[in-house]
Amino acid sequence: MTSLYEEIPPAPPADVPTRRVTITVNGEKRTLDIEPRLLLSHLIRQGLQLTGTHMGCDTTGCGACTVLLNGRPVKSCTVLAVQADGRDVETVEGLASAQKLHPLQEGFKQEHGLQCGYCTPGMMMAAKALLERNPDPTEDEVRWALSGNICRCTGYQNIVKAVLWAAARMREQEG
Ligand code: FES
Ligand code: FES
Repeated sequence: MTSLYEEIPPAPPADVPTRRVTITVNGEKRTLDIEPRLLLSHLIRQGLQLTGTHMGCDTTGCGACTVLLNGRPVKSCTVLAVQADGRDVETVEGLASAQKLHPLQEGFKQEHGLQCGYCTPGMMMAAKALLERNPDPTEDEVRWALSGNICRCTGYQNIVKAVLWAAARMREQEG
């Protein structure tokens, strides 16, 4: 067990109540004592040092902080970390293996689906949730699935192409 406050200095005063939670993050079980008001995004970025999850607006508007909670995309800036107790959280760090990029990562590379890259982790996680429930989406379905994620750079065209590229690659790999 790790105390979150060993990971986020400075520690809060001793009279701040904490709650023990166990969350599986990218396949690894983590047991942590956290303040009940802690946001999931802060737990991920500061507590667990998984800084691939980005923060844009902090108010559910941009989608940069999107992660999967039990396989469903959520905006981690508006989920309390205690709500993830007993659940699976997947972040962009969980996509690639040591040897191989995830097809979504390959797709973003092949189709030039990013410029500054700020929105990219959130886009990929929203896209992953889509492809898990719909392996052969139409362009409209991709656009709808990504409609909660804002990109300030690309104009979205290449992001959509990247997701369609990944979908085709994943079908190929499975077939
Ligand atoms: S930082 Fe969470 S939606 Fe923008
Ligand atoms: S690539 Fe810059 S915000 Fe999307």
